[in-house]
Amino acid sequence: MVEMMREVIQSFSVPFEYPVYFGRDLLALDNDLLARTIGRLEPGRRHRVQVFIDSGVLATNPGVADCVTAYFDAHGDAVELVDAPESVAGGEQAKNSRDATEQVMESIADHHLCRQSYVVAIGGGSALDIVGLAASLVHRGVRLVRMPSTVLSQGDSGVGVKTGIDAYGMKNFAGTFAPPDSVLIDYHFLRTLPWSYWIGGVSEAFKVAMIRDAAFFDFLCENAEALGKRDELVIESVVERSALLHLEHIRSAGDPFEFGKARPLDFGHWSAHRLEVLSGYELGHGQAVAVGIALDSFYAWRAGRIDEQTFDKILSAFERCGLPIWVRLLDRRGSDGCREVLRGLEEFREHLGGELTVTLPSPIGQGAEVHTMDEAVIEEGIEFLGARVRGS
Ligand SMILES: NC(=O)c1ccc[n+]([C@@H]2O[C@H](COP(=O)([O-])OP(=O)(O)OC[C@H]3O[C@@H](n4cnc5c(N)ncnc54)[C@H](O)[C@@H]3O)[C@@H](O)[C@H]2O)c1
Ligand SMILES: [Zn+2]
Repeated sequence: MVEMMREVIQSFSVPFEYPVYFGRDLLALDNDLLARTIGRLEPGRRHRVQVFIDSGVLATNPGVADCVTAYFDAHGDAVELVDAPESVAGGEQAKNSRDATEQVMESIADHHLCRQSYVVAIGGGSALDIVGLAASLVHRGVRLVRMPSTVLSQGDSGVGVKTGIDAYGMKNFAGTFAPPDSVLIDYHFLRTLPWSYWIGGVSEAFKVAMIRDAAFFDFLCENAEALGKRDELVIESVVERSALLHLEHIRSAGDPFEFGKARPLDFGHWSAHRLEVLSGYELGHGQAVAVGIALDSFYAWRAGRIDEQTFDKILSAFERCGLPIWVRLLDRRGSDGCREVLRGLEEFREHLGGELTVTLPSPIGQGAEVHTMDEAVIEEGIEFLGARVRGS
């Protein structure tokens, strides 16, 4: 006889809510937004705060640490800075090992932050991923305020719910889903950002526009030259529109923690992640995504999902703003003679679980999911893009 099993279904949901602000001069002494945001859950309570700043931001903004200290002094009735702001290694290389994440955790331990204390992270996507991972692990989660400092982190990663570092030869292999307590976007940080990261971040705007917002795609194409020339007003509207589209996706696609029901906004990313690893992380994420978009756009054109004119419009916009459409690494072959980039398809499937799912524009402004990719067409795309770059 089969024994009866007792089954109890445990079910609950946890609401998440975080404000995202867009502006300038957020560290000006008379701007109380940051202090107010930290106190928003328990007004009147004086919270302990530890600040970590991306080493690249510190190197190019020499006064920024003093500015943060002065800010917290000026708002000392509402917030207590536990120590001078600390440097956290910036850039993708810092995500390659656990060192930076462990340093942040150790420092939080040394300063005895509790679960209701705050960590403020100022930096690019890599530094935010590192501090975010550390903050999400300490005490199983310390509150985190993000102040993204790059085009990519302001328009994409900084407003999202993920953290992560690279491990075992795979990008973002170790990470957590950990929504921030709040996000403060200060456009002034972009002034010191090296050009390659400035334009690299624009590729994520193209990504989301091409599968979500055709009018935004047209805006990006029309302003390609201005973006390449660091037009501040244009980049601010690109950052805001991109951030809003990413926020909307997380909020309304029904699967913010990517359990499988909805896809992350990862058009162009299967090859991008592989190219980053193949380059030893010399190729920036934004540049890799641009190449990935160019390649998957070729695929979408060949599959009849976008027309030739649209495909050419994409490539021309990238060329005018300074984003790459092809890199030599695409031609690298393994000992079996196969192109190494193609392994990215299987790694991508494994990272997200389930069957392979690649999003393609179909048409521009709408994404369609495909579950098989014809490697011969990808090869053809690599040849096509290479020939266009060589002018042959
Ligand atoms: N967690 C997510 O959801 C998510 C989403 C997309 C991308 N990402 C990750 O984000 C990373 C890329 O981020 P990124 O493009 O912001 O680059 P980055 O964080 O790697 O920073 C690039 C360089 O710029 C420096 N820097 C940062 N801000 C600066 C400033 N204002 N002035 C001068 N220098 C500055 C950094 O020190 C670094 O050297 C990748 O690792 C990518 O995987 C994460
Ligand atoms: Zn990306």
